[in-house]
Amino acid sequence: MDLFDTLMKRRSIRSFEDRPIPPEVVDRLLDAANNAPSGGNIQPLSIVVVEQADARKELAEMVGRQPWVRNAPLSMVFCLDFYRVKRWAAAFDVEFLGERALGSFLIAYADLMCAAQNVVALAESEGLGSVYIGTIQASISRAREFFSMPDYVLPLMVLSLGYPKSVPSTIPKLATDVVVHRERYSVPSDEEISEAYETKYGDISDDVDTYLERAYIEAVERDRQDGPGWVADAVERMKKLDVKSNAEFLFNLRYPQRLMVGMNSRLIDAMRKAGFDFGRLGEGSDDGDA
Ligand SMILES: Cc1cc2nc3c(=O)[nH]c(=O)nc-3n(C[C@H](O)[C@H](O)[C@H](O)COP(=O)(O)O)c2cc1C
Repeated sequence: MDLFDTLMKRRSIRSFEDRPIPPEVVDRLLDAANNAPSGGNIQPLSIVVVEQADARKELAEMVGRQPWVRNAPLSMVFCLDFYRVKRWAAAFDVEFLGERALGSFLIAYADLMCAAQNVVALAESEGLGSVYIGTIQASISRAREFFSMPDYVLPLMVLSLGYPKSVPSTIPKLATDVVVHRERYSVPSDEEISEAYETKYGDISDDVDTYLERAYIEAVERDRQDGPGWVADAVERMKKLDVKSNAEFLFNLRYPQRLMVGMNSRLIDAMRKAGFDFGRLGEGSDDGDA
């Protein structure tokens, strides 16, 4: 299969066969990660490979009891790692202050995702499936402690991998021309925006099971693996919140926006504990936009 077809058929996989990934395949995935692009080629990242059952269980708990993390034979914890860089710089009496530079942080996070996405693409072409787990970001301190990470190391993304047992067929996407702008950003009208998302998610008044397969596959898959609970809970909350639109479903029910903002203090606290401090944003020398 050519690369385009491989990428077009890729789906996040949350149901894995109970069989290990051969070590030589794991090594290839890790080499692909390590060969990813990196800003300035500094490679400020580390990957913790998690295969042991008890660690998989603990990781699944950390990320909010996602059963596929426990059931996947392998997870990779992608960490932004300024620890190694700082030690290297210090060994040569050089100052490295990435932990205080938001720009360095953003580039390093981009590096980390480039590495992870190399793994996703190669995994797909090897007949494996994968799913990103972003909720590790709510448990940074706990994960740092569990994996014995030194200062300046932040576990920011998990990728769980294995041989797919089932592949979702109902995941909607925006039309490509909604996200593509040619030469200049073309500001869409309210109607165009609504139409784009309605086309993506479909009618909220559809049969609720069909709707949740499209809009909340995690709840459906969770119930399949850990027994009923999540779908019923989502349906109850839809009623309670009187959800009448796709936007309400996403931003009032799935990702309540005030709660997301409330997460800031937890994230900042975890980052401070790891030695990161950007001060007040805007502090320091400001040469304006480059
Ligand atoms: C940054 C990021 C974080 C994600 N976090 C989770 C997660 O915590 N749990 C999960 O089951 N899926 C997670 N996903 C997978 C998305 O739910 C999935 O990509 C999305 O539903 C689209 O489906 P697709 O990957 O099959 O195209 C994440 C994906 C990304 C890119």
